[in-house]
Amino acid sequence: MTARIELTMCARPTPDAHAPRSVIDDWQLLAQIVEVSGDAIFSEDMAGSITSWNAAAERVYGRAAADMLGRSTSELLPDETARQLSSVHDMALSGRRVDRFDTWHLRPDGRHIAVSLTVSPLRDTAGAMAGLATSVQDVTDRVRLSAELEDAHRTLEKQHVLLTRSNRDLEQFAYVASHDLSEPLRAMTGFVQLLEKRYAPLLDERGTGYIAHVVDGAARMRTLIEDLLEYSRFLLTDTASGRVDTAAAARRVVTVLGLTGVEVGVLPDVWLDEASVHAVLHNLVGNAAKFRRPERASRVVVSGSREDGSVVLRVDDDGIGVSPEHRDRIFRMFTRLHVREAYAGTGIGLAIVQQIAERAGGRAWVEESDLGGARFCITLPAVPDQVVLP
Ligand SMILES: Nc1ncnc2c1ncn2[C@@H]1O[C@H](COP(=O)(O)OP(=O)(O)OP(=O)(O)O)[C@@H](O)[C@H]1O
Ligand SMILES: [Mg+2]
Repeated sequence: MTARIELTMCARPTPDAHAPRSVIDDWQLLAQIVEVSGDAIFSEDMAGSITSWNAAAERVYGRAAADMLGRSTSELLPDETARQLSSVHDMALSGRRVDRFDTWHLRPDGRHIAVSLTVSPLRDTAGAMAGLATSVQDVTDRVRLSAELEDAHRTLEKQHVLLTRSNRDLEQFAYVASHDLSEPLRAMTGFVQLLEKRYAPLLDERGTGYIAHVVDGAARMRTLIEDLLEYSRFLLTDTASGRVDTAAAARRVVTVLGLTGVEVGVLPDVWLDEASVHAVLHNLVGNAAKFRRPERASRVVVSGSREDGSVVLRVDDDGIGVSPEHRDRIFRMFTRLHVREAYAGTGIGLAIVQQIAERAGGRAWVEESDLGGARFCITLPAVPDQVVLP
């Protein structure tokens, strides 16, 4: 005896001779809804043979209904999930619906697909179990995406560990540079000076010259160590950001450096820490005044504007300028274009400026200035809008 399956949600109505004939029969309607469903839907009888197979099932499993009808649903189960799925089956066969059960199915071509299953019992008109209806969502893309996300997350975590380690190494380096290197250097300088003082009468001019070279070399090394420490300070500090009055910071720098001929325009405030803003302006304004043309006093203009959530600060000068082929490399540590005798310095200033820019998500560069010298620019974070509001 073949059981007639009664679907509670859409029970076939008892024909009513007086009712107007519906253009589309409810059963046809139901069949069409199933057919156009985006989810694969198939049903099976109590023996597990497939009794219906919709268009989406054809797409998801890559097999036509004609091929699948009458086959066993067990063919869709990969070995590794077969046991787990048979308990889902048992649960549905005992009359309970299983909702959104995530597992794997096997396509007839051997490919595994990630699926989310909803399995509902089907009953005949007498209410007896007649089989199961399974609605399948192909979630392979979602699963792949979340696996990729997890991968990316793991990579990020690994990079974070590496970064923490390299920061720690750097801290150790800074410590070594400040203590272990400075100490022998200080001793060396002290003894050479002692040598100079006590034994000067015994030394000829050449000997005195050698000593002067050693003292000078030691002093330079001391400056290099201090500059390296200054650089690593900006590499490591994770200071909280806040509103910084850029124009006030620029004016302070001018005073500290004892400069004249520096115009500070109206500058937008930035969202950073005071020390970084001071370091940027100190280095850029200091350079602008230092690399002046020997024949005249320098003119320096500090200006700024807001551009797409950032502030661009510009320091223009009428000095010697930077030729295009050197514009990238001068930002590297200890890179200078001149001998110390011409312009003092170790070449750390611009490396610090770039370091601060990059840490703040901006950049620093140099171009030609309308004033005839160089224009150094840096982008820094602007004060967020919500903070601007009262
Ligand atoms: N305003 C400028 N005009 C022309 N050249 C510049 C200017 N600013 C920087 N430079 C060039 O870039 C080089 C690197 O600048 P940076 O500030 O890093 O080092 P420095 O000023 O020489 O030394 P330090 O900053 O350590 O005292 C300078 O030596 C100089 O050759
Ligand atoms: Mg400098």
